Amino acid sequence: MQLETERLVLRRPHRGDLDAYAELFADPKVVRYTGGVTKSRAESVLALERMIRHWDDHEVGLFSVVRKEDERVLGRVGFLLWDAESWEHAMMRRLRGRTETEIGWMLARPHWGRGYATEAATAARDWALQELGLRRLISLIQRGNDASVRVACKLGETLEREDLPGRFSAATDLYALTIEAPAR
Ligand SMILES: CC(C)(COP(=O)(O)OP(=O)(O)OC[C@H]1O[C@@H](n2cnc3c(N)ncnc32)[C@H](O)[C@@H]1OP(=O)(O)O)[C@@H](O)C(=O)NCCC(=O)NCCS
Repeated sequence: MQLETERLVLRRPHRGDLDAYAELFADPKVVRYTGGVTKSRAESVLALERMIRHWDDHEVGLFSVVRKEDERVLGRVGFLLWDAESWEHAMMRRLRGRTETEIGWMLARPHWGRGYATEAATAARDWALQELGLRRLISLIQRGNDASVRVACKLGETLEREDLPGRFSAATDLYALTIEAPAR
């Protein structure tokens, strides 16, 4: 399973990506709006295992984003399933009720501001809508994460719900893209 854009390859994560993820999760600026807590290398091992398992369990997940030019893993972009009542996600819990599919993005700091997140997320969005046939994607974004809101808007998402309930560390809003069924 692999997607390709002009500058990037999006592929399933594997254990060989650990160095890149350990660096990513250890950066306080990267995790500022996703809980604010950095991870040790041992915690990053577990986080990577959960990303791999999400793909195995649900056939979707977060892609590792690889720059073609130097084969560097820049971060991750892709999908995470959430329980739409409790707002717990499938990397932490087995989901039972109605689910929502989040499209999300996280890149290492040296690579911000070059359009990589939008480029990768656009390819991921198109794959989900065209190949998986999904009609709705959401993004959960902590208030103040303006760069992330900008990426969501560029993908066609709009603010749908403020202050989601659930165990978020700060006020979190739901952005969504819904494809209406064609009129008959
Ligand atoms: C969010 C993130 C993935 C964006 O990556 P990126 O590759 O820099 O994104 P892009 O370059 O594709 O687009 C960013 C957009 O936000 C804008 N932007 C960047 N910083 C901004 C800020 N502080 N305020 C407002 N807009 C901002 C950029 O100008 C750009 O918009 P433009 O194309 O209209 O100029 C990156 O900052 C990141 O990994 N952050 C940490 C992890 C995170 O918070 N993930 C999101 C969780 S919801």
